[in-house]
Amino acid sequence: MFVDMHHHLIYGLDDGAQTYEDMKAMLLGAYQNGAEEIVTTPHVTPGREPFDGERYLSHFRAARQLCQDENLSLILHTGCEILYTDDTVRLLESGDIPTMADTGYVLVEFLPGDSYDRLKRAARALGNVGYQPIFAHVERYACLRKGSHLEELHEDYQVVMQVNASTFVKAGFFERRWLDRLVNRGFVDLVSSDAHNVDTRCFRMRECYDFLKKEYGEEMAQELCHDRAKRILAEQ
Ligand SMILES: [Fe+2]
Repeated sequence: MFVDMHHHLIYGLDDGAQTYEDMKAMLLGAYQNGAEEIVTTPHVTPGREPFDGERYLSHFRAARQLCQDENLSLILHTGCEILYTDDTVRLLESGDIPTMADTGYVLVEFLPGDSYDRLKRAARALGNVGYQPIFAHVERYACLRKGSHLEELHEDYQVVMQVNASTFVKAGFFERRWLDRLVNRGFVDLVSSDAHNVDTRCFRMRECYDFLKKEYGEEMAQELCHDRAKRILAEQ
């Protein structure tokens, strides 16, 4: 069973599910693939595009109702994926955007070409006001491939590092070698689906779990796909 901290299933908010039917298909797909808990994380861009919190909560409640109606023992949480901007801390502090399942954790993404300095400033700014950053799909940021940048963020700033399940499944030789180094040195904390639909960007946690189990053993697969996320959610 999997605890997914990154999933765009709430419809009508971003480039994930567009309709109620899309949402239903994503929920059923994730459940059949082994999802136990999901933090729903629509994209939010503080200060650039308004986030419609009421619409989010209303569609989130519809998703919970759907789980009940379909008898899915699947727990859903509120959250969001924040494209980090200078307005992020202010909007978090004012309660206008949700943290991960009402914990102090926030899922943050950056533009692929953002500098290491920008990522470090974000980690520091969030940490200074008591938030614990989870960096979304760390495999996307070129600056983290250099030197000991990823290690520094992980060790000195306690950034939680999330990798997409599909990245492990699809990785070519060089990508796999980089990921292998990260996993072996303990720098990957969470594997999440980042699912956007049921075909091109679907929930591939089972496939990824099987891969991780084969490469690193069951304990590691369980830690990355379930246990670490469960410990974060226990901080609610
Ligand atoms: Fe995402």
